[in-house]
Amino acid sequence: MVGFGVVGQSFAKLLLSRSADLYSEHGIKPRIVACVDNKGSAVAPAGLDLQRLLEAKKTKSTVGAYDKGKKEFDPVQVIENVEAEVVLECSPTDLSTGEPGTTHIISAMRNGKHVISVNKGPLALAFPSLIELANYNGVMLRFSGTVGGGTPILEFAKRCLKGDRIASFRGILNGTTNYILSKMEEGMDYESALADSKQKGYAEANPSLDIDGFDAAAKLVIMANWVMGMKVTMKDVKRTGISGVRSANVKKAAEGGNAIKLIATCDSKRLDVAPTEVAKKDPICVNGTLNAVTFSSEHSGQQTIIGRGAGGMETASAILRDLIEIRDTIFER
Ligand code: HSE
Repeated sequence: MVGFGVVGQSFAKLLLSRSADLYSEHGIKPRIVACVDNKGSAVAPAGLDLQRLLEAKKTKSTVGAYDKGKKEFDPVQVIENVEAEVVLECSPTDLSTGEPGTTHIISAMRNGKHVISVNKGPLALAFPSLIELANYNGVMLRFSGTVGGGTPILEFAKRCLKGDRIASFRGILNGTTNYILSKMEEGMDYESALADSKQKGYAEANPSLDIDGFDAAAKLVIMANWVMGMKVTMKDVKRTGISGVRSANVKKAAEGGNAIKLIATCDSKRLDVAPTEVAKKDPICVNGTLNAVTFSSEHSGQQTIIGRGAGGMETASAILRDLIEIRDTIFER
């Protein structure tokens, strides 16, 4: 496991609370054999004691305090030298460089390890080449947690709609901006709504990623590649954030039975993120931090999936899904 922030720690807690039924229901007993954060690492080939790992992080702010053993600080060295089947990439998202996540993912795949990434940066900036590298090395790259938190938006499109042809989709892919716009609708001004979302911990460490539409654009890129088979990256998205939306705009939209939402759209002509008026009766018009995506399929019509799009435990549940899928695929081979 590389990165031990909110999501990484939530995944450790999830494993602790679910170990019995993961074994009885799915026949897996995952062992975390190494964990690296930005200050240190903990390695135990027999499996780390997750309670102790969480304690080390909580009290000393690094997993390096787990024990007094010899430490390898370079994540790439840990990825390459520790024997493991899957590398979990949970380091922070950087949508300008994709680093350090991209280097971690490439090292893992070159080393014959499957990868689960909850880091959006590498996928948003280099999706086509990362998938190519995974295929070349015969490993799986999974990333359910990058879109929709725990809501299985990617799986819904890829698996439940298998055989049909998705012509387009549009959705709310960013919880923070949806929260701000919903609060503005309730009468709060933009600045207070932004401060409120920061205080509640929904926003990215750099809230410009949410406000200016980068986060939604990154998720749109991941979906366009995975669901629609496009070969696109961040630079292909036309992006407008919500900083230009005023309370007066929100009020005017409401008078016409509409709401302003930050909508990501993908069809044969458009790949964009922009504040858009949506009818309140449209199923996509959800409030708070919810995400919602409507897929338009050639034969089965329109379907909308709605759910919580962010959160530590929610995203950890997506990691678990990916892990079970990797295990199932290995068994089928
Ligand atoms: N900041 C993101 C959001 C977190 O608000 O949706 C989940 O990717």
